[in-house]
Amino acid sequence: MAKDIGIDLGTASVLVFVRGKGIVLNEPSVVALDKNTGKLLKVGEEAQAMLGRTPGNIIAIRPLREGVISDYDMTERMLREFIHKVAGVSVFKPRVIICVPSGITEVEERAVIDAGISAGARKVYLIEEPVAAAIGAGIDIAKPDGHMVVDIGGGTADIAVISLGGVVESASIKIAGDQLNEAVVKYMRRKHNLLVGERTAEEMKKQIGCVFPKDEEEIMDVKGRCLLTGLPKVVAVSSTEMMDAFEEPVERIMEAIHSVLERTPPELVADISTNGIVMTGGGSLVSGFDKLVTARTGIHTIIAEDAISCVALGTGMSLETLGNMQEGTMNLSRRKQMS
Ligand SMILES: Nc1ncnc2c1ncn2[C@@H]1O[C@H](COP(=O)(O)OP(=O)(O)O)[C@@H](O)[C@H]1O
Ligand SMILES: [Mg+2]
Repeated sequence: MAKDIGIDLGTASVLVFVRGKGIVLNEPSVVALDKNTGKLLKVGEEAQAMLGRTPGNIIAIRPLREGVISDYDMTERMLREFIHKVAGVSVFKPRVIICVPSGITEVEERAVIDAGISAGARKVYLIEEPVAAAIGAGIDIAKPDGHMVVDIGGGTADIAVISLGGVVESASIKIAGDQLNEAVVKYMRRKHNLLVGERTAEEMKKQIGCVFPKDEEEIMDVKGRCLLTGLPKVVAVSSTEMMDAFEEPVERIMEAIHSVLERTPPELVADISTNGIVMTGGGSLVSGFDKLVTARTGIHTIIAEDAISCVALGTGMSLETLGNMQEGTMNLSRRKQMS
């Protein structure tokens, strides 16, 4: 019998959880193609290495760039490769739970399910990302007790209030880790006349980036191309500057958190202020995010242990209750709106 599989189909990376084994695959959501023949050359790690350095006939793309399936065909091929990698090519097809952003439309939901089926799944179940994140963060979501989860990924930030196993209020915005990188590129151009690539911006974000003042200022020497001379140049950049660079996208995320809190029924807000806010996803690892959210909301905020794997772990844990789940569409927040 094929093993059940849980997939965190993230914009930055795909994590696959196999029942009884745990997370067995963690690779970037990237595919590389031959432009002329359309042939799939590489997926994951190997395709990632090609991003930005492909010769004319090869293109490397991130099919989930904005959190949903922007390139259906590529997503399906990528899923197929990953499913084969973990399940092998077997006559028994696995049952698969795929984690989707809570703001996803019905059409997008259908696309994820179809991609799963054509990629080799026997049955596809969907779980909302914040619900999976909460389960993975160790929250008991079944109780009538309000919890807030803020998941900041690569392409989307998902904010949700969860109670009784479902999403009560949520927001999903297309501002997350990728947009922080873009903000750094723009800042370096504007302030230092320096052109830096996305990889460099990401390194800066991880090394010296912060959204709340650090106890000690950090400096990084950043290499790029001078926009005035066209020649290589090195500029020393401080962590305080990074706060300026991030300001706009970070404010958008803070606004989204506020708007969800505003729409949340008072009883649940009271629960959240007792339970605190939990942050998950790689984007929440930018230094000081928990402090900023605590300062702005007055609610104690923590970053979940293993923030990057939370969603995959939660998806994996929900494999245990597959028997109780409805196949295909199970978007709890929408079902609630309809009833
Ligand atoms: N240590 C870190 N500090 C800051 N950002 C990080 C760190 N590790 C990962 N990230 C960022 O997290 C984002 C990916 O988060 P992830 O939760 O894996 O996304 P997704 O669920 O969309 O695949 C990327 O933008 C990456 O730059
Ligand atoms: Mg994610």
